[in-house]
Formats: sequence, structure tokens, C-alpha cells
Amino acid sequence: MYDQVSKLFQDHFGVAHTVASFAPGRVEILGNHTDYNEGFVLSAAINFGTYFLIAPSDDATCRLVAGDLMAEVSFDVSSPASVTENTWANYVIGVLAGLQKHGATPKGFNGMFLGNIPLGAGLSSSAALEMCSGLALSALYGIEVDALEMARIGQAAEHKYAGVKCGLLDQVSSLFGKAHSLVMTDFRSLEVETLSLGEDAAFLMCNTRAKHALVDGEYNDRREHCEAAAAYFKDALDHPVGALRDVSWEEWEAQAPSMDPLTAKRAAHPIGESERVLKGRRLLDAGDLAGFGKLMFESHDSSAGYFENSCPELDTIVNAAKGIPSVLGARLSGGGFGGSVVALIHPRDAEMAAHAIDAVFKREHGHPCEISVITPSDGAHMVA
Ligand code: GLA
Repeated sequence: MYDQVSKLFQDHFGVAHTVASFAPGRVEILGNHTDYNEGFVLSAAINFGTYFLIAPSDDATCRLVAGDLMAEVSFDVSSPASVTENTWANYVIGVLAGLQKHGATPKGFNGMFLGNIPLGAGLSSSAALEMCSGLALSALYGIEVDALEMARIGQAAEHKYAGVKCGLLDQVSSLFGKAHSLVMTDFRSLEVETLSLGEDAAFLMCNTRAKHALVDGEYNDRREHCEAAAAYFKDALDHPVGALRDVSWEEWEAQAPSMDPLTAKRAAHPIGESERVLKGRRLLDAGDLAGFGKLMFESHDSSAGYFENSCPELDTIVNAAKGIPSVLGARLSGGGFGGSVVALIHPRDAEMAAHAIDAVFKREHGHPCEISVITPSDGAHMVA
């Protein structure tokens, strides 16, 4: 893909690129909607990603091309304002605006990106675009931006230009991923650790290709409920509560009957999830993949029951997975309301498990789902 985008760049702009970067998508393995509740997540960077190539231009114009569409957007470097057509450009425009606050000089460029992350699959193609453009543009402008600050710049682009009040999970996973490892993040301290997974675990990514209406509004709605619940617990508990991370499952059980029922129901999910991640980590350390897989199933049940961010297509896959002995665990991955299920398997079982899941999905929904084997991979880096 790098050779392909290098050639497209040369043909389109008539010059060779001088800077190139790559950033992967991510898969969320355990810990759903815990990042903005300051809890814990286990995730991984994946073997699908996006390249971003740049050459400086002689004037103040930025020309930006999506290599798959060969669609171009141009704007003045000193006023990187959002566009309404070709909205993919907004992620890069948002990142550029963020970098300018860190001293990026207003010099124009020719840029092109090309990737292979399926769009709308819940694999964070937008975070990959933000992180590869962030790395390439900071190299072009010769500025140093710390990785967590780069993640925040990407997050701000999502908040401002895509209207999704996301946490930092997608950007952190894309930056900190490591081959054959999971990324364990504490979203309060922002401490990031990588845990080696070994050769015995693999993941199937089952893309339902379903994207239900109002996804972004639903995401923001869940976040508001979590914040309302945290405010409730802050008053009700006799220890400091800064976010749902500070509330235990027992405290939730004791308080739930006195709370607004919907707020209590929503809060149960991130509270349970954060505890599941800590438990999951201990099971991984002990090499207990089967125990870890059970937590993935529990995570999905909590999504479907408490957070209501699943959908029939995701449920079909998880229910099918529960009946296939070689699938150790399965759950929705990412924001929800469509997108993909991640399933834990032993690598030797990948083909058979994928076939069995797909057969059930086809029977119930009349078309296949898209299944790929996901390998935890290295995070974002410069290529040239
Ligand atoms: C999306 C958001 C992340 C995170 C997940 C759910 O991927 O972008 O910040 O909240 O959903 O865990």
C-alpha cells in the first residue's frame, strides 16, 4: 500500500513526497465506554491502517487528497476551517488547527492519505487518520508533540468537527500499540502499559456493516447519563468521586434503587466494565484465556442490557459465538450501535470459527458479515 500511495502522490502532485507516516486502527478488547469515565481499557492496534504522505508547497495553500476516492480539498493554511463536503478532510483540518497551537508555522503542503481500515466498522479509521496526519505534519513543521498531547489533538478534532464527545481510547491505542500485545490504559493517570499476549491468542473481527441512525447522538447521550450518575454518586457517597471510575459495583447496587432508573441502568455498564478489565488483566497474567473470554461475553451482555448500545446484528454474532466451543469470548467493540464484534480464539481455530459465525449471520440477516483475523500490531510511526 505504501508503494501504491507513493505512486499516486507522484502522479497527482507531480513531485515526490518528502514525509510519510503510518497509523493503525484499533480494536477494543475489554472495557466499553470506560475511557471517558476515567476507567481502564484493554485494546490493541491492528494490522490495518492508514498512510499519510506530504511534500511542502511554495505557498500557503494546503491540498489534501483522499487516495481511495482521488477527491481533493484545498484550503489556506492560516485558516483551517471545517468543510461540509468531503468531511473526511475535517479530521486533518482539526489536527492541523491543533498543531498550530503548538507552534506549527503557516506553510502550505500537498498531502495524500490511503488506508485499508473498513469504514464504519468500529475500528477507528478516523483516529488512524488523525494520528498519521498528526505525525506527518509535526515532522513537516519540525515541532515535537508528546504522544498524549497528539492523542488529545485528535480527540479535539472529533469533538469539534465530528460532534462525537469521544474519550481518548482510539488515539491512545493507535499510538501505543505493540505487536502481539494488548495496550492496558488507565484513563485517569493516562499510564499506558503493554501486555504480551503470546502466540496462542488471536482475534476475529466480525463487521456487521450495520450502522444505525443517530449513532453520534446516542454516544453523546450515554456519556451525559454517565456524567449525571457520577454527579449523583459524588453527593451520595462518603468518599471523593471524580468520575464513575471511583464507584464500586457494591456501591452501585446499594444506590441504584434511589437513583433515576435510566441513569442507574446506564452507569452499571462502565462501572462493571472497569472492574472486568482489572479482573481480565489478572486472568491474562495467569494465562487463563478461557476465563478472559467469559469476561468478554459478560461485557457484551452488560452492553446489551444496561447500556443498550448493541443491535440485533451484533447480538446475532455474539449469540452464535456462545454456541461455538472454539470461540472463547466475543463482544461488541467500540462505541456500539452497529460496527463489529471482536471474538477471542486460538489461531488454529480461526477459519472454522469464522465459517460457523458467518453461516448463522447469513441465515438470520440474509447477507454475510465481513470477518478478518486481527493481529495486535505496532502503533503509529514515521515511514519516511
Ligand atoms: C468510541 C470512542 C472511544 C470509546 C469507545 C467505547 O470508540 O471513540 O473514545 O469511548 O467508543 O469504549
